[in-house]
Amino acid sequence: MRRPLIAGNWKMYKTHLEAMTLVQQLAHELAGHDFERVEVAVCPPFTSLRTIQTLIDSDRYEFGLGAQNMHVDKEGAFTGEVSPSMLKALDVDYVILGHSERRELFGETDEGVNAKVRAAFATEMTPIMCVGETESEREAGETEPKVERQVKAGLAGLKPDAVRKIVIAYEPIWAIGTGKTATPQDAQGTISFIRRLLGSDFGAEVAGDTRILYGGSVKAGNAASLLGQADIDGALVGGASLDGGEFAAIVKAAK
Ligand code: PGA
Repeated sequence: MRRPLIAGNWKMYKTHLEAMTLVQQLAHELAGHDFERVEVAVCPPFTSLRTIQTLIDSDRYEFGLGAQNMHVDKEGAFTGEVSPSMLKALDVDYVILGHSERRELFGETDEGVNAKVRAAFATEMTPIMCVGETESEREAGETEPKVERQVKAGLAGLKPDAVRKIVIAYEPIWAIGTGKTATPQDAQGTISFIRRLLGSDFGAEVAGDTRILYGGSVKAGNAASLLGQADIDGALVGGASLDGGEFAAIVKAAK
């Protein structure tokens, strides 16, 4: 059984003070929620990780904690970067890797994402590896080949046991922050394609265990139909995760 995961990608929003308020509001909205049934994670900017970790510890919140990126090396002369072990020391559980904004705006490559995925596992954190096609790739019928390339390259060299633990987020780029969502059927189609890929490369059991999320303009109003699809194991939520009430409603829509 794959436990659904709803993860909030806060991107470059919220100071650490605003982040505290949002997490407290979210905890209030989700009082009584069964976190064993549907897992919830928040992925604030680096500057808020320590604050949120302290809040999770002191108030015994059951949220998972995620970062949005990291450097691949343990340490070094890399001005402005943050290492895997620095995140691990903050009890970070998840790290979003290869988000399309990182790929498009910061030049991240499939090979670089693969190196970071391995570094995350080496540091005992779970990667949330993002893949997805642009609008023109979709129109040219290239969704599957693009996603296949990204998945294969991102997972290169991993053992089946690691693949079983990774979280993959399928995020069509044209749906991110645009208000346009893939139809539940289209999202299900691409995600089941990814699962078949995992099956042929790593075996049916691994494919049956790996969680694959959908991301791209997920809101309270469309969450239930997306999350109701057989292969969609949760959501990576951007804009709607910045509002405690809206994000909590998405969590409650997950079955
Ligand atoms: P969105 O972002 O929900 O605002 O479309 C999703 C993401 O970028 O992960």
